[in-house]
Amino acid sequence: MPSNKTVVQTMSQQSPIRTLGPVSAFALGSGTEPEGHPAGKPIDLGLGEPTRDPFSGALAWASLGVQGVNHYYPALGLDKLRSLIMERYYPKVGTDDHTVLVTHGAINGLDLIFRAFVTPGDEVLVADTGFPPYLKLAQFARASLKTYSLRGDASGFHFNVRSIIDGLTPRTRVLIVNAPHNPTGACLDERQIRQLRRALDNYPNVLLVSDEVYSEVLIGASQHLTLGGLSDRCLVVNSFSKSLALQGFRVGWILAPNSLGEALVPFFTNAIGAVSSLGQEIALRALSGSTGAASNYRRSVQLVSGILDDYGISYLMPAGGFFILIKVRDDMRACVGLRQLGVTVVPGSGFGHATRGWIRACFAKDDETLVAGFSRLAAGLIKLGEV
Ligand SMILES: Cc1ncc(COP(=O)(O)O)c(C=O)c1O
Repeated sequence: MPSNKTVVQTMSQQSPIRTLGPVSAFALGSGTEPEGHPAGKPIDLGLGEPTRDPFSGALAWASLGVQGVNHYYPALGLDKLRSLIMERYYPKVGTDDHTVLVTHGAINGLDLIFRAFVTPGDEVLVADTGFPPYLKLAQFARASLKTYSLRGDASGFHFNVRSIIDGLTPRTRVLIVNAPHNPTGACLDERQIRQLRRALDNYPNVLLVSDEVYSEVLIGASQHLTLGGLSDRCLVVNSFSKSLALQGFRVGWILAPNSLGEALVPFFTNAIGAVSSLGQEIALRALSGSTGAASNYRRSVQLVSGILDDYGISYLMPAGGFFILIKVRDDMRACVGLRQLGVTVVPGSGFGHATRGWIRACFAKDDETLVAGFSRLAAGLIKLGEV
């Protein structure tokens, strides 16, 4: 049997998703400026971290009335929060056969699913290009990683269910679909979802994991179609990090069919204990008062597309999520150069082959940051000769 080290090395050699060398995509996008930076602290358009305040102002925070929370909360999450999530996000999914389990953000939900269901040698099928932790979670589980491609055209990247189906084999254990998709913003339509459901019927061993963290951040798309309830082998992960800008409180969830939910419970009771009481209380209040995030970001995207148009820079308008992709000559070089000019963005090659040659810029920022950041970005790309 190969050692862990060998398996991990073999996987990263085989993988079409490049694990960046000394400078990772996230380090480049983190906004930590190099020593003695000439432009001061770079404007951060890198990480997908919304900056709006969900409770608008310090006074509102102070009046939330969160008290008496210093005790262990239920391992699967507050009943009230679980019911509210079910009601709000999955009105058409039966509460008799599905359950919501509260996690430490979506990333923890993904981790628990891998721990509960993926064993060494299983295959995990993910998109090239995609959220880098999927690759790492597959490595941790000593699974073998396979990828499916998105279809690219002048209007952007789109899901190609044929390519997903072609990637399924009798050894596939987990298929991850992330829509709206990071970094491309691709969404799924009804026909594609029907095709996916039919494909599942032919592969009885496959669990479909639907990462829907951008479900409420819609730009070109008019609605989000959840995969929750699609099949008794479909698990949805989501969180309040993007929709309610509560990323620091680390509250997410898994929507699971009961049979799969039961297999996850031991991981909640033995590996998490319970998600932070304060985080859950805050999420409960934010969810009760939420009016949705989409309109906010539609306005932001108009602002930044106006700036890019003025500079003559072309970009892809996303269907969902809060990232714009811009084609450059060399994405790593462009990111390093832009950072020297005082703006951080993320290289597309950090997400996979398909977005090599693109940079990803986040528009979930306040207007002032967007105007300063995207103007600097556009002028910088021209100066660097990257567009
Ligand atoms: C596709 C995707 N899934 C999951 C996450 C993690 O979300 P959370 O903050 O809820 O852990 C992110 C964060 O950037 C993401 O882009």
